[in-house]
Amino acid sequence: MTEQQKVHPVSEEFAANAWADKEKYLSMYQQSVDDPQGFWAEQAKRLDWSKAPTQIKHATFDADNVDIRWFEDGELNACYNCLDRHLERRGDQPAIIWEGDDPSDSKTYSFRELHARTSQLANALKSMGVGKGDTVTLYMPMVPEASMAMLACARIGAIHSVVFGGFSPDALAQRVVDAQSKVVITADESIRGGKHVPLKENVDAALTREGTDVVDKVLVVKRSGGEIDWHEGRDVWFHERVDEQSSDCPAEPMNAEDPLFILYTSGSTGQPKGLKHTTGGYLLHAALTHQYVFDYQEGEVYWCAADVGWITGHSYIVYGPLANGATTLMFEGVPSYPTPGRIGEVIDKHHVSILYTSPTAIRALMAHGDTVMDSSTRNSLRLLGSVGEPINPEAWEWFHRVIGNSKCPIVDTWWQTETGGIMIAPLPGAVDLKPGSATRPFFGVLPALVDNEGNILEGASNGNLVILDSWPGQARSIWQNHERFVQTYFSAYPGKYFTGDGCRRDEDGYYWITGRVDDVINVSGHRMGTAEIESSLVAHQAVAEAAVVGYPHDIKGQGIYIYVTLGDEYEPSDELKKELTQWVRKDIGPIASPDVIQWAPSLPKTRSGKIMRRILRKIAANETDGLGDTSTLADPSVVQDLIENRANR
Ligand code: WTA
Repeated sequence: MTEQQKVHPVSEEFAANAWADKEKYLSMYQQSVDDPQGFWAEQAKRLDWSKAPTQIKHATFDADNVDIRWFEDGELNACYNCLDRHLERRGDQPAIIWEGDDPSDSKTYSFRELHARTSQLANALKSMGVGKGDTVTLYMPMVPEASMAMLACARIGAIHSVVFGGFSPDALAQRVVDAQSKVVITADESIRGGKHVPLKENVDAALTREGTDVVDKVLVVKRSGGEIDWHEGRDVWFHERVDEQSSDCPAEPMNAEDPLFILYTSGSTGQPKGLKHTTGGYLLHAALTHQYVFDYQEGEVYWCAADVGWITGHSYIVYGPLANGATTLMFEGVPSYPTPGRIGEVIDKHHVSILYTSPTAIRALMAHGDTVMDSSTRNSLRLLGSVGEPINPEAWEWFHRVIGNSKCPIVDTWWQTETGGIMIAPLPGAVDLKPGSATRPFFGVLPALVDNEGNILEGASNGNLVILDSWPGQARSIWQNHERFVQTYFSAYPGKYFTGDGCRRDEDGYYWITGRVDDVINVSGHRMGTAEIESSLVAHQAVAEAAVVGYPHDIKGQGIYIYVTLGDEYEPSDELKKELTQWVRKDIGPIASPDVIQWAPSLPKTRSGKIMRRILRKIAANETDGLGDTSTLADPSVVQDLIENRANR
């Protein structure tokens, strides 16, 4: 039997105590698709509304009029739902357990403490002129202040836009300008794996860029105490401003469709898109999936090892768990520091029951061999989760056997920045697991596969993954650019939401995500547009043309492979490779570091001048036997040269 065919049946013991067993999952799923209005009206009661919704769902994917609204006459506040409503029953329960980069550094905030500090911060934001509907950009380390900042914005009706701390000043500036943020919240430095990253310095640099004069104030958390420049009148110390505020700050009642946040993500073309998520539907989807997919039980410590800069951190470090009154662990560091077994040590230290991480992190640990986990027992673990990229069955089995001591189900969760929350994943008490498959849709999710012409494929098949109808957590638009939203997601297959992913459905109706079918790549679970990297490269004077593709990488899932055609007066050299590598790192951020650069005297193009990426991908993957039809190429000899000079051996 190959790994792919292995099935891990639901354990009866697990199912007996789970939120959903087989029967319950099937009946709830059926109800959610037969009667979405009734199902979601009922589910919405898990949130506290200042005005309960009577209008449940209003959504059309019709390309002329994409319009998505959930609970549109309801009013609520996301921060209230994450904090205030828990005070009575679990005010003293830990809300956030923070584990610092240094293992001797950790801190706990109870719901009461988190509520008080967040309210002070909300008042501090008000004192800086932030109000309902304003945007605030966060460029922060993984410290509790990051979660507080998100919640404080939500409390006063401001819209946060978190920019991952690994992005460059230019990337940050672009996002600040697009969102028109008046305030940026940052820290002096972040600390990861013992290394300091100069966040404030990056903000200073970003704010010299054109258009960033919209920024009035920069609120700075003192994290490392490292040296920073200070701009009098603009920069404000977080502790000074926040300490002096009252901890009484009413939560602003928001319409369910008021924006909660913007989050930028990469697409196959152009600039990053600011996906707009709104309050009611998003929060409900995050909370409901957090409970059912992770089978979260009262009092457990739950750890999502993502960064708050990504959607995973938004939905499953902050909003989902806190809305459910869960204890959420936040980790500042990297999995292998200071010891390769740190993940296990953190699990033992804080008695973590649920660990949610990425295939890349798992593969990196796996490379150390089984003994990497010898420094911990991980006896507290009950469930494991995976997200961000397809997990190969070998990594799945290792995760299960070594990290999970062969006793924890694994939920492989497929979703996207655009979907707001988990879409396809097993409920662990209900669905037999097949390593490598995200398995079955969550409540209310209607996945389908289509061929390239848009015909719906039935039964076991392989195609493009679309979603046929709206779900509450769906992004409503692209910030200030609804047309692009429609164009990007609803024009390829009219009337359907196109995910950009390829997918196979097996004879049991299980979904197997095969990866992106567009020009987006997933490097270590970080999503990147090849077009962004290309446009960075061609801005370098030596580069005449560049093409970027992903190739299979043992640890990262995909690596970044770059073909560069130099301008006439430039010669290939190792120095130039280094320079181009630095160029991209500086322009976009270290996450976009090229893995392989190949000099290409020219690139394979069709007669109409379109680069044939399919061929470049195959060469990068060393699959040159099946190059397919190259007869449409303007100059087929180009391909032979590229194959002979492959840089990836
Ligand atoms: C990929 C991350 C396979 C997919 C939550 C998707 C996955 C993109 C999985 C979204 C999974 C995410 N199996 N592929 N379990 N989860 N992906 O927006 O290609 O950063 O389209 O959201 O990651 O990445 P994003």
